[in-house]
Amino acid sequence: MPPTLRLSRSDPDALARTCELLRGGGLAAIGTETVYGLAADAANGEAVAAIFEAKGRPRFNPLIVHVRDVAHSERFGLADETARRLAQRFWPGPLTMVLPLRPGAPVHPIALGGLDTVALRAPRGAMAAVLEVFDGALVAPSANRSGRVSPTRADHVLRTLDGRIDLVLDGGSAPEGLESTIVRPEAGGILLLRPGTVTAEDLSAATGLPVWRRREGDAISAPGQLLSHYAPHGRVRLDAEHPEPGEYWIGFGGVPAGTGRAFDLSPRRDLREAAANLFTALSLFDAPHIERIAVAPIPREGLGEAINDRLRRAAAER
Ligand code: TXA
Ligand code: MG
Repeated sequence: MPPTLRLSRSDPDALARTCELLRGGGLAAIGTETVYGLAADAANGEAVAAIFEAKGRPRFNPLIVHVRDVAHSERFGLADETARRLAQRFWPGPLTMVLPLRPGAPVHPIALGGLDTVALRAPRGAMAAVLEVFDGALVAPSANRSGRVSPTRADHVLRTLDGRIDLVLDGGSAPEGLESTIVRPEAGGILLLRPGTVTAEDLSAATGLPVWRRREGDAISAPGQLLSHYAPHGRVRLDAEHPEPGEYWIGFGGVPAGTGRAFDLSPRRDLREAAANLFTALSLFDAPHIERIAVAPIPREGLGEAINDRLRRAAAER
């Protein structure tokens, strides 16, 4: 494959060129409000297979189907009352819902990993603009090699996928910085499969329903929620009070004096800011010569649940 083409979203013909490439079965990395996604035409089996190839992603791990809006989503999934309420409240936005697959839905089975459910989300950002022009749905995992840190900028995408994909549409930084919250609406409650910036509190407030957490090892889970994920080259130590000699430091609300290599997720201890910066910090310290990274404790409530989830996976045994 030739080198990856980089297009600026502000080029007047950028959207049209991106759509043309997708219609021809190509792979394009496109920003959303969460992270950059690696998009392909959901109905084109060869294009979908090429995503797994480019990422080195296990075939059993299904992809999220990105749609324009609620009406578009109805072609793919069967929404119950809870799903409708959640879509109304949070779409377009960083919420993915796992719903029973509608028979005959125009999505290639390779994208679904053999499941009879489909993960649906209506995004914001450049991906939404592309969906307005593209006639169909787009499957898009995060635009990184499997197991590596999710990209929030075009140059992060190119760090692991340059030469493996056709195009990256550069629209600047993804504002939220963490992948979407994934839920499965169930009778009497909402199962939280992956925490994100739509928090458990937000979900309950919108529906009046309890939010259930999956337990490690549950049969029902997001199949892609492997414990080791988002992994930089070096080992990651969590809940550190201070850096040991030789450790790079990811802080929250200040960096200890005399620390050489440090990145503060949020000097003012703001969880939203910390979420937006997390993958930037992990990418910055993702280099072969960096062997050890220590991370300050991050509060666990609200948005902190999602941040700690990603950190736990970055620190897991490989
Ligand atoms: O914010 C996001 O969600 C980004 C942007 C690009 O939209 N996408 C993203 O995709 O994070 P990915 O592939 O990195 O993560 C999708 C997760 C995986 O863990 C996958 O296993 C899970 O969604 N998933 C997909 N379909 C599923 C289904 N039918 N049931 C349960 N989990 C599913
Ligand atoms: Mg991912």
